[in-house]
Amino acid sequence: MAHASIRIDPDAVVAPLDRRIFGGFVEHLGRHVYDGIYEPGHAAADELGFRKDVTALVKELGVSTIRYPGGNFVSGYRWEDGVGPREQRPVRRDLAWHALETNQVGLNEFATWLQQLDSELMLAVNLGTRGIQEALDLLEYTNHPSGTALSDLRAEHGYPDPWNVTMWCLGNEMDGPWQTGFMTADDYGKLAARTGQAMKAAQRDLQLVACGSSGSSMPTFGEWERTVLEHAYDHVDFVSAHAYYQERGGDLDSYLASAADMRYFIDTVVATADHVKHRRKSDKTIMISFDEWNIWYLDEHQASDEVNDEWRIAPRQLEDVYSVADAVVFGSLLMTLLERHDRVRSASLAQLVNVIAPIMTEPGGPAWKQTTFFPFSVTSRLAQGQVLRPEVHAQSVESTVYGANSAVDCVATDGEDGSAIFLLNRSREAVEVTVDVSALERGTIAEAVTLWDEDVYAKNTMEQPDRVGLRDAQASLADGALTIRLEPISWTQSASHDPSVRHEVPGEHAARRGPRRA
Ligand code: AHR
Repeated sequence: MAHASIRIDPDAVVAPLDRRIFGGFVEHLGRHVYDGIYEPGHAAADELGFRKDVTALVKELGVSTIRYPGGNFVSGYRWEDGVGPREQRPVRRDLAWHALETNQVGLNEFATWLQQLDSELMLAVNLGTRGIQEALDLLEYTNHPSGTALSDLRAEHGYPDPWNVTMWCLGNEMDGPWQTGFMTADDYGKLAARTGQAMKAAQRDLQLVACGSSGSSMPTFGEWERTVLEHAYDHVDFVSAHAYYQERGGDLDSYLASAADMRYFIDTVVATADHVKHRRKSDKTIMISFDEWNIWYLDEHQASDEVNDEWRIAPRQLEDVYSVADAVVFGSLLMTLLERHDRVRSASLAQLVNVIAPIMTEPGGPAWKQTTFFPFSVTSRLAQGQVLRPEVHAQSVESTVYGANSAVDCVATDGEDGSAIFLLNRSREAVEVTVDVSALERGTIAEAVTLWDEDVYAKNTMEQPDRVGLRDAQASLADGALTIRLEPISWTQSASHDPSVRHEVPGEHAARRGPRRA
């Protein structure tokens, strides 16, 4: 067994935790909305048609903000189609995913569903086929209290109170040739600046996100951000980043090192945004909204015919089934977002249900957790206070694509109610880690769980929904040192909390909580 040592200094603060880092994303795509979160005929449906079993799982996942309604979908969307009497709503063609959109779920139903989750709505406006006026109309309908044409229309539709949405995306992936209405950086930068200026004239406290690159391998990466921000710097607060990872050609070691690309992506966007800041002599610092990140077997989906010439309602699209290895990489990506939290202030896991999702459902049938559910729900539940950057000493692992990377990654949080340590072992051998936690002054291990399996490709399915789950980690605490065993290719957390102050969590974690004296 290999060994590693980690020191945690409570003064090595990355940033205070902003819970928007635990955001999610719901797009009208495949079976995400229809036959996913919403299935009026299902035995578990509530009065609005949303599945209560799915709602409970999304709640347990612990998503803060939820970005809606796309994604590529938003670039052809008319928000007006999704409000008002349902029987009058039109069926439209969605060009992004070549499907039919019935508009039975729209802004008001979705925002009502979010209230049950205690999640905050983050909206995207269509800058693909539409422009400034439509964005302003949606803003008025959504946020204006009353006494104007569109706020009164919202009240007429049965929603007198404004939704008070503060985070808005100015379009989606406008750098991508696949995007309806895609643009050059110059054209988009001007449009984002003008739309942002107008939206902030209507409501000063909005937080606006300009589209950054759709991936670090885009040919325009870097130059896109520079050009867009040269135009829009004064009118936006965030620039977006999107990244998806997958194992390619059986190269597991490179796949396990995917966080290296995410770090490169973030660092490049930060350098570019700060370059523009200094050129403009601006006092403002642009933050990153990593509003799409996940594992996505994109190559395989593109080779399939699931997006085809038919016009179907809620077809099965992008329904990846995730393995333990996927969940470990996923856990490392979430750790990276925390590690760079000084600049990545907001993030959205893409997506939530059925479509590249931690939660799966069958129409008329059950809902279950994918492997990726676990790192997200545990991190969202336990992270609090300040995000800390630990000092890690571990051996490295070689990979073809990303060279040498530390076998062990670690990020920690420390707050009034306790501290939490998140660990990753990307190597193929077990590692015993000694963590110097003496400066954190914690006397108990409240919880220590790990996600790993002898079969790194084990998955949960409808037939075997509990094949993979969290296991107790081997951990002990003595004289200010936490000793913890990281299984080969695993994601692990250890938390020292006063369990009496944690919020109640349904499911299997609850049984594991309670102090365990070292
Ligand atoms: O999340 C799936 C798709 O990925 C989104 O619609 C798009 O923004 C991105 O390319």
